[in-house]
Parts: sequence; C-alpha cells; structure tokens
Amino acid sequence: MSISERMVGKRICICAGPGGVGKTTTAAAVALGLAAEGRRVALVTIDPARRLAQSLGLEQMGNTPRLVEPAHFAGEGIEMRGELWTMMLDPKRTFDELIDALAPDAPTREAIMANRIYQELSSAVAGSQEFTAVAKLYELDASDRFDAIILDTPPSRNAMDFLDAPDRLTGFLQGRALKVITAPTGGAAAIAARGSGLIFSALRRITGVDLLTDLSAFFGVLGGVIDGFSERANAVSRLLSDPATTFLIVTSPEPTSVEEAIFLRRRLDQADMPVGGFVVNRVRMLARNPPTVDESALTAELDGDDRLTARSMRALEDLRALARRDAAGLRHLSSEFADERPILVPQLDGGISGVAGLVAVQRILFASRRARSALLAEHAF
Ligand SMILES: Nc1ncnc2c1ncn2[C@@H]1O[C@H](COP(=O)(O)OP(=O)(O)O)[C@@H](O)[C@H]1O
Ligand SMILES: [Mg+2]
Repeated sequence: MSISERMVGKRICICAGPGGVGKTTTAAAVALGLAAEGRRVALVTIDPARRLAQSLGLEQMGNTPRLVEPAHFAGEGIEMRGELWTMMLDPKRTFDELIDALAPDAPTREAIMANRIYQELSSAVAGSQEFTAVAKLYELDASDRFDAIILDTPPSRNAMDFLDAPDRLTGFLQGRALKVITAPTGGAAAIAARGSGLIFSALRRITGVDLLTDLSAFFGVLGGVIDGFSERANAVSRLLSDPATTFLIVTSPEPTSVEEAIFLRRRLDQADMPVGGFVVNRVRMLARNPPTVDESALTAELDGDDRLTARSMRALEDLRALARRDAAGLRHLSSEFADERPILVPQLDGGISGVAGLVAVQRILFASRRARSALLAEHAF
C-alpha cells in the first residue's frame, strides 16, 4: 500500500521510531505528498537537519505554521494542488502558550511565567519536548484549519518516551511532590522542618537561588492550572487513539532499529493506538540478480589502474555485504508481522540534500506497489 492508501480517512499521521532513521525526512515527504494531492497540510517538525529545513523554507523556528511557496517544488515537477504549511516546534513557547491557555487569569499566568522553577521545568523537564509536540498537535487539530497534520517526533533515545511523556508530566505535576509542598498544613515550612530545608539552604548559599521559595510558589500558583492540564492530557490521549489518527513507524533495516520498531509496534497495539504500518528507510538494496563485474573491463575503464580496480571491487563487496544485512533485518521484521508489507525507501546517494532528495522520498512513499518496485530496482546494486 502506498501512503495515499494508508492515509484514506486519516487526518493525523505521527511518524515515530528509533533515533536517526529518517522520521523527520519521512514526515516531511508524507506532508509534501498529501499537499500535492490536494490536502491542506500542516507539518510539525522537531529537529530538521539543516538541509531539510532549507528545502522546506524553514530557516528559523516559528511556533505557527507557515505556507511553503508552491513554486518551491515546481522545479522538481511537483504540482501542488493543496497547501503545505510547515513549522519547527519550539517546545518552550508551546509550553508557555499552553499555560497561557489554561491559566484562569492574567496574574496567575504572569506569576507562573516569572517563576524560576517554571522556567527551568518548561525547558528542561525530561519529556517536555514530547509533551509539547502533542500539545501542539492538539492545538492544530482544534483549530480546524488543516485537512491533515503530520507530526514528527523528538529525537529521543527511546521511541517509547513519546508515548509516556504526557502521563509522566501530569503524574509529576499531580504527584506527591506537589501534595507535600502545597498541603495547607505542611508546605514549605514542613519540609524545612524535616531537614530538606538544609539542602535547600545549602543550595541557596551555593547558587544564590532560593529554590524552596520558588518551588512552593510555583506549585502554589500552578494549582490553578492543574485540572486544565490533566484534562488536556486526557484529550491528547483520546486524539492519539482516534480512528482518524495513524502512527507510521519509521525504522532503518539495522537490527537494533528493527528490534525497537517491533517493540514500539507492540506497545501501540497494546495501547489500542491505530498503526498505519512500517516505513523502512535507508535500505541498501541488493539487485535480484547482482550483475557480475568484469574486472578487466573495469580496469580498462579506469585507465589500467589495478589498485583502483581492486578498491572499487572491495567497495562493491562491502556494499553488498551491508545490503545482505539489511535484507536480514527486513526478514526479521516480516517474520514478526507476516501480514504487513512495509514500505521500503532506499538509501539515496549523497543523503537528502535539498528539495530533490525530499521529492525522491515522496515519490517512493506515494508510488503504487508496482511503480515502487521499479523505483527500488533503480537503486539496487
Ligand atoms: N533515504 C535516505 N537516503 C539517504 N539519506 C537519508 C535518507 N533518509 C534520511 N537520510 C538522512 O539521514 C539523516 C537522518 O534523517 P532524519 O530524517 O533527520 O532522521 P530522524 O528524524 O529519525 O532523526 C539526515 O541527514 C537525512 O538527510
Ligand atoms: Mg528527527
């Protein structure tokens, strides 16, 4: 199945998977393809490589989507029938906007924003990037401005962090730390009395920062947004498991990535999250009948340079060995999910540089199965 077929009836596509496999590239290519087909698409990227950002006209972070000029892709033969809007997520700003939306009044909002703990938390809490990504997704979905929203996921070491982030963050905010500190009879004084105060005052001496005061002020003032926060987290969970949402699991054929992708797939299934299948990216393709290279013809072509011939032959052998390893990774994936036909995207020479590379990936993702086989064969060796 092509991405077009997989996206029928889907409004939200989340590209998840291990680090460095091509999630951002795939998300961009999916968004481009759907926009070309006629949809009004918002692409939320997280950490686009510089080249990719340039090819999307995303020179700087901006927390609202911007329209990419259709002319931008015309040179590559893309007829843009819809609209492609792109943005690079700014986690800190998204967090601020969320508090802004949830704070009951202006003084509460200002007190939170000015609080040092909040400032630290919003840019540093583990998972805050993951949380803000889905918070943005929710906001874009609620705006009703787009027919499709494609969400890239953060470069976590572990693909699962993304799913756990909302719970972890609300758990933290609702958790015991909060209760202890804001309890009317306990609070800061009680902690101080129990000795943690020593630690805080030591910290204050060293850093000059009055953590305890900041911390209790933070939780005190945050009390006003906690309910809204967990309500929002629930709404986000519902959105993630909505039938119009689909997770595209992106992986490379490397054994460790494939393992992680399989694990992620199982987790999504267990959580009843809708999975739209696998994309296996950066596959080094072995030709069906690898041509044998005529060494003497090659030497002649290389002006009689024997050493260069030997080096070229070795390089080809190395590549074929890698391709055999990739094939083993693919077999492993198929043995776990026999009914799945992952979409394979070849390793493109020279990486994804500029618009042409992005369009090449988009063509493969959106090709029919037949056409895709032909495209893949072009990259086999
Ligand atoms: N099919 C491909 N062929 C060649 N290079 C690729 C391909 N897909 C991605 N890349 C390159 O791999 C790197 C990682 O891709 P990226 O999309 O940023 O991965 P992720 O978002 O999963 O970390 C980038 O430099 C990108 O240009
Ligand atoms: Mg990325």
